[in-house]
Amino acid sequence: MHGMLVAVLLTLAGCGGEGEDAAGLRGGLPVPEGVERNTDPALLTQGKQVYRQHCANCHAADASGAPNWRKRDAEGFFPPPPLNGSGHAWHHSTEVLADLIRNGSPGGKGRMPAWAGKLSEQEITAVIAWFQSLWPQQVYDAWFEMQQRGR
Ligand code: HEC
Repeated sequence: MHGMLVAVLLTLAGCGGEGEDAAGLRGGLPVPEGVERNTDPALLTQGKQVYRQHCANCHAADASGAPNWRKRDAEGFFPPPPLNGSGHAWHHSTEVLADLIRNGSPGGKGRMPAWAGKLSEQEITAVIAWFQSLWPQQVYDAWFEMQQRGR
């Protein structure tokens, strides 16, 4: 998996700054509606508020996560990873991200709390849009291409 990630990033670096062209294509793939990065200011403001109130104490104010997020703690749990595009959150589809936020650590074996019933679906959508807005364009593009291939 890690090897693949490196390969994807290298490939992207090779193509360099390939954005969406006039025909609505990105990386040669059609851009379907609703998949582009959400830039709705109201949604992002809401997402930022949700993040500050519920997530920042663990994932850091700038969403850079815990410094040692790759290493299990003394009890065998992973510390909060970055959500700003420098971690591996971008490997997950929006649906998988939403499920992680709804249900918390898989099987309850970890320190990510479950938010179902505490946050509305709208708030979950908003917080995902907000931390995705932090992803560097290259990371977002790699995520976008993975979503397209998975379809
Ligand atoms: C009590 C600390 C804590 C809080 C509060 C918290 N998280 Fe987490 N989060 C974690 C930990 C720890 C993990 C790693 C989970 C694991 O390894 O099982 C995690 C994992 C995640 C992941 C998966 C990331 C990846 O790279 O796979 C996402 C997405 C996430 N959190 C989003 C959020 C959002 C959004 C909020 C606020 C609504 C939030 N978290 C609040 C501790 C927290």
